[in-house]
Amino acid sequence: MLVNATKMLKDALKGHYAVPQININNLEWTKAALLTAEEEKSPIILGVSEGAGKYMGGFKTVREMVFSLDESLNIKVPVALHLDHGTFEGCKKCVEVGFTSIMYDGSHSDITENIENTKLLTELAHSKNMSIEAEVGAIGGEEDGVIGKGECADPNECKMIADLGIDFLAAGIGNIHGVYPPNWQGLSFDTLEEIKNKVGDMPLVLHGGTGISKDMIKKAIDLGVAKINVNTECQIAFAKATRKYIEDKKDLEGKGFDPRKLLLPGFEAIKSTVKEKMELFGSNGKA
Ligand code: 13P
Repeated sequence: MLVNATKMLKDALKGHYAVPQININNLEWTKAALLTAEEEKSPIILGVSEGAGKYMGGFKTVREMVFSLDESLNIKVPVALHLDHGTFEGCKKCVEVGFTSIMYDGSHSDITENIENTKLLTELAHSKNMSIEAEVGAIGGEEDGVIGKGECADPNECKMIADLGIDFLAAGIGNIHGVYPPNWQGLSFDTLEEIKNKVGDMPLVLHGGTGISKDMIKKAIDLGVAKINVNTECQIAFAKATRKYIEDKKDLEGKGFDPRKLLLPGFEAIKSTVKEKMELFGSNGKA
């Protein structure tokens, strides 16, 4: 069932667990994420970056695919279709085509512009019953092809953005997208605590969920993180399973070249990764 993400994240914060945002890249990804959520009785947020949206044929195509699959697979758990790291224009487009949630990433602009745009988009999203996430403190790693190092958000700026009426806040706490380098310093829990003290009961979002240790995930949830984004880990699991299929020459046996067979191990690998995350984040059994 497609819904906005407001209630699921309020419930997660209250219940001390986190809802996974699983980024989708194609139809197999979407089916894997939806079916696992249903099996695990977990709420789920399907994240779509602007690049992935373009790859799948545009936001309208994505919206139709997700809503149709949700219906035909008879998914009963709450599902949010969420734009990940949207530009101002991208957010407007997703509001127009009927996503249920957007993220405006104004973290690359100065705080005044970030506030201005977040405020406008919050009004727009809420007028359509959609939820909105905003970002303070750029999250490093590979974001839009730029590799950066994990930045820590300014807690006062977090408070200014939270006060605009957004529904959940992404704040940099040393996290980065993609695989963490061996010399990564880990999450800054002092920053997370300071932010939490300023923003009160605003659900916080942890980006760059791939490769963060179980202990750090648990501690982040204890300190107010209610949504954790995972993308790279599913991509790696998919690639690894597909590589094995090809290396085992399964595509050369009978009709092993049929995409329904060729993509099956990767599909199953995404499902196991999503299930693992639901168990770790504690969202299983919560829908
Ligand atoms: P990873 O690719 O590191 O899992 O991060 C995903 C993410 O934060 C999407 O916004």
